[in-house]
Amino acid sequence: MESYNSSFLWTLMVVFLLNISFLSVQGLGVNWGTRATHPLSPDIVVKLMKDNGFDKVKLFEAEPFVLDALRNSGIQVMLGIPNDFLATLASGVRVAEDWVTKNVSAYVSRGVDIRYVAVGNEPFLKTYKNMFTNATLPAVQNIQAALIKAGLGRQVKVTVPLNADVYESSSAGVPSEGNFRADIHDLMISIVQFLSDNAAPITINIYPFLSLYADPHFPIDFAFFSGTNAPVVDGSVSYTNVFDANYDTLVWALEKNGFSSMPIIVGEIGWPTDGDSNANLQYARKFNQGLMSRIIRGQGTPKRKTPPDVYVFGLIDEDAKSVDPGNFERHWGIFKYDGSVKYKLDMGKNRTLVPAKGVRYFQKQWCVLAPGASESDPNLADSISYACTHADCTSLGYGSSCNGLDARSNASYAFNKYFQTLNQQKGACDFHNLSVITKIQPKTGKAGCEFEIMIDLGKHEKARKTPASAAAGRLQGYGYLAIVAFLLSSIVGWVS
Ligand SMILES: *[C@@H]1O[C@H](CO)[C@@H](O)[C@H](O)[C@H]1NC(C)=O
Ligand SMILES: *[C@@H]1O[C@H](CO)[C@@H](O)[C@H](O)[C@H]1NC(C)=O
Ligand SMILES: *[C@@H]1O[C@H](CO)[C@@H](O)[C@H](O)[C@H]1NC(C)=O
Ligand SMILES: *[C@@H]1O[C@H](CO)[C@@H](O)[C@H](O)[C@H]1NC(C)=O
Ligand SMILES: *[C@@H]1O[C@H](CO)[C@@H](O)[C@H](O)[C@H]1NC(C)=O
Repeated sequence: MESYNSSFLWTLMVVFLLNISFLSVQGLGVNWGTRATHPLSPDIVVKLMKDNGFDKVKLFEAEPFVLDALRNSGIQVMLGIPNDFLATLASGVRVAEDWVTKNVSAYVSRGVDIRYVAVGNEPFLKTYKNMFTNATLPAVQNIQAALIKAGLGRQVKVTVPLNADVYESSSAGVPSEGNFRADIHDLMISIVQFLSDNAAPITINIYPFLSLYADPHFPIDFAFFSGTNAPVVDGSVSYTNVFDANYDTLVWALEKNGFSSMPIIVGEIGWPTDGDSNANLQYARKFNQGLMSRIIRGQGTPKRKTPPDVYVFGLIDEDAKSVDPGNFERHWGIFKYDGSVKYKLDMGKNRTLVPAKGVRYFQKQWCVLAPGASESDPNLADSISYACTHADCTSLGYGSSCNGLDARSNASYAFNKYFQTLNQQKGACDFHNLSVITKIQPKTGKAGCEFEIMIDLGKHEKARKTPASAAAGRLQGYGYLAIVAFLLSSIVGWVS
């Protein structure tokens, strides 16, 4: 009896310790968007997340190739529904049932660990002019009903990712004055009530960068986590950063309306590295390191000591995103388009970011302005404009990493972007005979601005489909189960 007890306890302890080491950086989430001309293969991205300790991912919609790659990955999923689909979902519960059957149940049964359905994406943003206001709550209710019908009511929770402009504080600007925005106040209460009744969290996106972008007089040190000379004093609390102040404004708004224990998730937070004078590597690193250090310490805010689950925005740059909000929109990644590391980030436990593995590139050739071409050629401006309409030239803009190149390098940058974006195709380096392909790496003459080579998705696709690598993926997924099974069999062995 004695030996049974001790070996059983010992085994439990081993299982417990294994759990700790398997889930080393618990509670680290990231947004994975796929609006890129050349999205990295999902298998490479899943490995990238695991290698960097991300154990939660937020997706903007149900894409089969992405969800398939997350099977048995150990990564928890928040699955988004685009705003454009809200009206359809609101129109009837049958549509929601179809959505849940096809996009949730089907993947859950195949080993995708879906924990949340995020209905809409910042649907009440003021710039949408109430386009999604009426459909959001009915869509949430229909998805919830469909989840219950599918037997997933406990396992999968609904939520709505909201922009931080759904709440505000009065003229004083202190968190304790926080309440929901007047024009949607009653709607917000109905939504929060519904989420609360279903033990679901509220999700909020907080962007100190956008505060700075919108207001050039915004005190810049308040945007980061490193303290400020002019804290916002709210009663006995001094707020030293906009994140705490913003988050606590929501906590106050919830408390004031009777929801003081409502769970909150930070659905998006981050800092872009290009496309604006405040979007650069130093600021992005400073902000994201401040954020990461809080997550590692398990630090909450003055008003709520329990830290929220946080999903960093974003994982990888997306060169096909709309630039309506600004040129920075394509540069939110902590990794570049190819999964390479942009800057050093201390991820805790003596770890820093590690790059994607197994990425294949096109051959080392670039499209540049021909040596004989004249800068005053009448076709040059149109050629640059054409290249930049079909490829991402946001790095050339004011305040960006490639701004201020001389005219020749500027043209070459645009030509090369187009050539790479079109997979180095024959004919993609032909701008009225003003361009030429070179195998000698060209230099832009500006640090931090490079002529890039695009990733070769054709090679990825082949690599992804080989049976050997698929089998390796499955083995990896079962590794943990195998160890548990081994330990369980040892218990049985000792007992008998
Ligand atoms: C599943 O989600 C995708 C992506 O949002 C959508 O296009 C599709 O219509 C959904 N399926 C159903 C049955 O609603
Ligand atoms: C939302 O519903 C209200 C009340 O039914 C209606 O007056 C309003 O026009 C609707 N808004 C939109 C954008 O459809
Ligand atoms: C952290 O990593 C560095 C370099 O890999 C190593 O030299 C150092 O001993 C490590 N420190 C700890 C506390 O593990
Ligand atoms: C550089 O290219 C951009 C296109 O993004 C163009 O607007 C600008 O005029 C060019 N600058 C020079 C100096 O040629
Ligand atoms: C480019 O050069 C070739 C050969 O020199 C010539 O045949 C062609 O017409 C030129 N094309 C343009 C658009 O100038």
